[in-house]
Amino acid sequence: MYTLPESVKSDLRKIAEEIDSASLRKGYASISKAYGSSAFGKKMSRCEAVAYAVARMPATFGAISYVINRFRKKVPGFRFDKVLDAGSGTGALAAFFISEGINVAYTAVEKDGNMAKVFTQLTKGCGFFVELFEEDSGDFFDKFKDRKFGCSFLVYSLNEMKDKIGILKKIFAATEDFVFVIEPGTPEGFKNILSAKKLANSEGCSVVAPCVSENCGLREDDWCHFCVRISRSEDHVRIKNASLFREDEKFSYIITARNSFKPVCGDRIIKRPMKRSGHIIFDVCSENGIKRKVLANGTVKGKYLWGDELERKQ
Ligand SMILES: C[S@@+](CC[C@H](N)C(=O)[O-])C[C@H]1O[C@@H](n2cnc3c(N)ncnc32)[C@H](O)[C@@H]1O
Repeated sequence: MYTLPESVKSDLRKIAEEIDSASLRKGYASISKAYGSSAFGKKMSRCEAVAYAVARMPATFGAISYVINRFRKKVPGFRFDKVLDAGSGTGALAAFFISEGINVAYTAVEKDGNMAKVFTQLTKGCGFFVELFEEDSGDFFDKFKDRKFGCSFLVYSLNEMKDKIGILKKIFAATEDFVFVIEPGTPEGFKNILSAKKLANSEGCSVVAPCVSENCGLREDDWCHFCVRISRSEDHVRIKNASLFREDEKFSYIITARNSFKPVCGDRIIKRPMKRSGHIIFDVCSENGIKRKVLANGTVKGKYLWGDELERKQ
């Protein structure tokens, strides 16, 4: 179960204390209502930006941690160096590097002034170099055409960007090693992941994870997504009017490599495994497309979860 680092949690608590809980709840209600409506992507008030950090940042942090930790197991010894975070919001990706004690040179681009302000408050004193550009990501790439990054990230932000293909093209051009795109685990979010995959293929980049098959063989009405469990703080429980101190965050993702790196992968389990009496059913993405594998109890070594690789080849 993932949880924001203590230093970020404590700074966030202090920021949230400046606003009464009823206003924070209203702020959260207003950002939730905006999703999927014409208000989506509108300018955030201070209260909405703080509500985002309290209510959503733990979940996006959880998705980031899941994706990067699995990546690090596949690419042992990889050093994050020059990192770009386009649509950085309140700093969930920075919080990951803080929590892991990873020293990076971190460039954030965020168009919303109030999100940028919370980002600055939460990354102050993080111990690594941070520069924040408060502007549209497309404009940032146009202005700094010669700047290159080792790894670039679009975390829950591509779905908010108007010119998605344009941004993807610019981010691929600016990245020397790996591009990470994480989106909400919805059909729309997955469509954006597929666009990134298509573009990566046409740019000659390889897909590192989660796809095993070159072309996506999922039915058109299906979408590939994964799930991570995160813990909720008291403020988080209060703002969502919830009762549980944990939640499950669904997300879709893709990691592509410009350096043509392609790890050896077992079949990826793309749905929650179904336990039946005497056997387990796994839906997997394999080199031969989407397959259903039915394995008798006892023939599977260890415990395999949704998102894991089955029958590892290395
Ligand atoms: C849902 S938030 C995600 C924030 C953060 N990446 C996270 O994972 O928590 C999306 C962010 O992208 C920003 N954004 C959307 N379009 C943008 C653009 N064209 N340029 C820069 N930032 C953008 C929004 O202002 C918002 O802060």
